Amino acid sequence: MWSATVFTLYPEMFPGPAGMSLSGDALARGIWSLETQNIREQGLGRHRAVDDTPAGGGPGMVIRADVLAASLDAHLAAEDLRPRLLMSPRGAPLTQARVRSLSTGPGVVVICGRFEGVDERVIAGRQLEEVSIGDYVLSGGEIASLVLLDACVRLLPGVMGKTDSGSEESFENGLLEYPQYTRPREWEGRSIPEILLSGDHAKIAKWRHEQSVRLTRERRPDLLP
Ligand code: ADE
Repeated sequence: MWSATVFTLYPEMFPGPAGMSLSGDALARGIWSLETQNIREQGLGRHRAVDDTPAGGGPGMVIRADVLAASLDAHLAAEDLRPRLLMSPRGAPLTQARVRSLSTGPGVVVICGRFEGVDERVIAGRQLEEVSIGDYVLSGGEIASLVLLDACVRLLPGVMGKTDSGSEESFENGLLEYPQYTRPREWEGRSIPEILLSGDHAKIAKWRHEQSVRLTRERRPDLLP
């Protein structure tokens, strides 16, 4: 079973959206598993402190290396081969190619940062790989981790209805998805492109490809060679 372990200060945020819809059904059907570990359990002192002020001064708080490492060590076996991903705006941008590769592996360990960051030494000392879901800053890694889990889980065998309903969508072929239409044939004076009603599958495939290229050129020229 593809298994996810999430280290967080807010375990109540899980499964959240991952417990609904496609991923929630897959969770209930045992296609994947989700476990959360509260980093605060290894917190220090009466207040179970997990953070402290940044060395060198500056605003905010930093998650302590010793506390996060103790949490990871308490819950991860030495033989655990899953990648350890630290959600962070500083990380390598998550791509559909990476999502696909993660979904074909044994699962993921995800660490959710909070505050101003995580002590750099635990990133090196526990081989954490920083992953970003985009060039904007969230208040913590929890929502980012739910994005990553959703993207991976929908690709697991048996999760999506039609086996290849993922293969034509945006990014899977390096292009944005072509426009889609359904009934009614005419709506508010707008009709479905004639070619889609022609029944000529070769022509339809060619039209869709051209539309994908056009949309990609207009909206995401950075995706084109
Ligand atoms: N935590 C805060 N912002 C983030 C982002 N953009 N990606 C991943 N984790 C984050």
